[in-house]
Amino acid sequence: MLVLGIESSCDETGIALYDTEYGLLAHELYSQVELHALYGGVVPELASRDHIRRLIPLIQATLKKADRQQSDIDGIAYTAGPGLIGALLTGASVARSLAFALNIPAVGVHHMEGHLLAPMLEEQQPEFPFICLLVSGGHSMIIRVDGIGRYKLLGDTLDDAAGEAFDKTAKLLDLGYPGGPRVSNLALQGTTDRYKFPRPMVDRPGLDMSFSGLKTFTLNTWQKAVKENDATEQTKADICRAFELAVADTLAIKCKRALEQEGLNRLVVSGGVSANREIREKLQALMKKRRGEVFFPRLEFCTDNGAMIAYAGAQRLLASEEQGLDFAATPRWSL
Ligand code: KG4
Ligand code: ZN
Repeated sequence: MLVLGIESSCDETGIALYDTEYGLLAHELYSQVELHALYGGVVPELASRDHIRRLIPLIQATLKKADRQQSDIDGIAYTAGPGLIGALLTGASVARSLAFALNIPAVGVHHMEGHLLAPMLEEQQPEFPFICLLVSGGHSMIIRVDGIGRYKLLGDTLDDAAGEAFDKTAKLLDLGYPGGPRVSNLALQGTTDRYKFPRPMVDRPGLDMSFSGLKTFTLNTWQKAVKENDATEQTKADICRAFELAVADTLAIKCKRALEQEGLNRLVVSGGVSANREIREKLQALMKKRRGEVFFPRLEFCTDNGAMIAYAGAQRLLASEEQGLDFAATPRWSL
């Protein structure tokens, strides 16, 4: 079965063709980063308009890359939520209309299920059950995964998502947008022992997380440096390093706790923040020490993409899930 995947929940238009027999055939991504950079964050109306411009040409380009025709497609998967309502509706309406025209099924996919299953696109796939750390711009969750659609939420953030904390920290330090990669790049020049940031909520039982305090810690540390005439690039880099280490340590402590609690030794890490080098290294070290396994998506599939939606949708379609002609986008939707 050949499935077309369409992702348009935020500022990335992602298209992919996934074959349930041969795997991923082709994928294309158009990032609106430059469009929104001027405003320091995503402007929803501009995002929707740009998705409208990009969707059809990207679908055509992906078909061409895979050397396939529209008529070869057996099913369509699109992100139905959560995300920006206008952006979601552009993808949903293109998906539903194309499915109607081709007389094939279409299925709305949960964006976070897409992220969660992204490591399945790699050659080495994790076996069920596993613990998944899902860290993106909008979510930070620890989930027990027993199979496709069998998800148990073990821990969540009580305030900011991990990616949101990276983005807000970048804004406070005037590093621009998108924040995560900028903080991470500057952290490479930072020293490890100048600042020590707290590891939020690690001394409390349970798997919930909280990242908003780290952002406040960044603000206070930076303001103190400004007052002391030490507002240099090196200070910024040192703050980024301390911030990144605090997030990575906190996530590693929570993952270890989740694995112990559930009696599992297999960890999957996905979502935009899983592209972070420090976090990948910390979690790799944790699983090496535990003699367990850890799985990440390749870097380009950590952040939003069409391939993960095509894969998740293909699993739903294989299970004969199909929805009627009416469609809805769900901007807020729990997994
Ligand atoms: O999964 P994603 O592309 O979109 C959402 O579903 O939210 O994640 C985007 C988030 C942003 O907050 C971005 O700053 C963060 O992932 N991110 C990173 C890195 N690359 C992206 N955070 C830390 N380090 C990175 N290298
Ligand atoms: Zn995402």
